[in-house]
Amino acid sequence: MAARTASESRDIPSGGGLVPSATRAAWSSVVIRSAAASVAACDMVLTLLSDRSRSESLVADPERVPAAVEEMLRITPLGRNAGMPRIATEDVELTGGTVRAGDAVLVSTVAANRDPEVFEHPEDLDLDREPGSHVAFGFGPRHCLGASLARMELQTAITTLVTRVPTLDLAGEVTWRATALVRGPAELPVRW
Ligand code: HEM
Repeated sequence: MAARTASESRDIPSGGGLVPSATRAAWSSVVIRSAAASVAACDMVLTLLSDRSRSESLVADPERVPAAVEEMLRITPLGRNAGMPRIATEDVELTGGTVRAGDAVLVSTVAANRDPEVFEHPEDLDLDREPGSHVAFGFGPRHCLGASLARMELQTAITTLVTRVPTLDLAGEVTWRATALVRGPAELPVRW
């Protein structure tokens, strides 16, 4: 069998109109971001196990998992920073101020998810909260491409744990990812 060069073996089909490097960058973005749901799942397991009444309430009623996942998405910041800056391409009037063309704007979805005008007692984790309009997956044209997949993964992971391993508990010190852009546990020792 003929040996393939490194660039051939990394060859990725290019989409209509996209130059190969842009296609590669787009695919890299999807692949890198696809790990986010696994990290979020670990974070959610930690949230549930750090207060047994939370995990026990889902063990008793797994039907509540989808709403609980939405509430944990709302309150748990996945990123370690305020996200990508946006650069205004024209002057924009925004809630009483003007963002000038060329200005950089940091949009904090974490702050939006704790907006007291939208969420009652926003700092409280309330697994019974009616799933509302959180922006954990962003908003508008840049809305997360993987949101449906991430929701499915998270709901499946948490439902499986509460139904098949109801005695799951923390078993040691949690260590945190120190350098990654995505925040969450690096090690989460558990027992059952
Ligand atoms: C809990 C898991 C996840 C969360 C909280 C999340 C969150 C987000 C957020 C907030 C954005 C918007 C970023 C911005 O406005 O600049 C975004 C974009 C994106 N996400 Fe996710 N994501 C998750 C999982 C995933 C998964 C599993 C995939 C792919 C399989 C994915 C693929 C993408 C892509 C490709 C974009 C860029 C969309 C664009 O710029 O048009 N995400 N995500």
